[in-house]
Amino acid sequence: MSEICTTPHANDFAACVKGVDLAQALCRADAEQIRSLWLRYQVLYFPEQVLTHPQLERFTETFGPYGHDPFITPMVGHQHILEVRREPDENVVPFGSSWHSDWSFQAAPPSATILHAKIVPPVGGGTHFADGIRALATLPEDLRRAIDGRTAVHSARRPYSHAGYRAGGKRTSMKIVPSDDAWQTQSHPVIRTHPESGREALWLNPVYTLAFDDMEPSESADLLARLFEHMLRAEFVYKHRWEEQMLVVWDNRSVMHCAQGGYAGHRRVMHRTTVAGTVPV
Ligand code: SIN
Repeated sequence: MSEICTTPHANDFAACVKGVDLAQALCRADAEQIRSLWLRYQVLYFPEQVLTHPQLERFTETFGPYGHDPFITPMVGHQHILEVRREPDENVVPFGSSWHSDWSFQAAPPSATILHAKIVPPVGGGTHFADGIRALATLPEDLRRAIDGRTAVHSARRPYSHAGYRAGGKRTSMKIVPSDDAWQTQSHPVIRTHPESGREALWLNPVYTLAFDDMEPSESADLLARLFEHMLRAEFVYKHRWEEQMLVVWDNRSVMHCAQGGYAGHRRVMHRTTVAGTVPV
């Protein structure tokens, strides 16, 4: 068993974890401790983890079966690893650079996303995370009343329909495959109960959540704007800075994230896997 040492950030949201080597197969006690830390802090980062592709795959499998990653061609020979890459001269916004929760348009979106930093630019290129649990706990009474018992429609159409993809600019270093499938919609509860911790989170995101079900469009748009403003208050956001060989795992069931730019002229390369989740309730 490893001597795992954890340093939480403000409000117990996100934590740095040291003292465990993720390149090795984890013993049951270490795997359980990491899982319970992840459930508590929602975002965990592990500095100095030099990992091969099979080691990243094995670590991912300790969290559960792989998720299904649509619209993006995976790495050759590693069907569950996506390379998130941006070249120094690539004139397009970074992949994932609007607030979202991964694949929330799926019937059962991924529980976890794991990102391992291979090449980190000297400036910019961080990832920001927003805590949906405290966003809900602090929601003003009128907003809470407006969303209680409601569902919202999610879809991949903005980034991954043919028209949406074209509008996003020409991404050359990742193979995105836009599709008419992106027009499918999925309704999910707006207040989501975490299937493992039982904690409730505000579960909406500006990329994939289109509108509330059964609400007039302008009222829905106005309510979403007010909710997003609340969810992105500075005290709910953890701003992560990367180092090469750092690994981050986050919980899509309660956290939104957003890749940051600010590194034009530099390369950034990350390897990403997802873990299957359950139908939100
Ligand atoms: C993502 O949205 O999965 C990518 C995040 C990042 O590259 O920082």
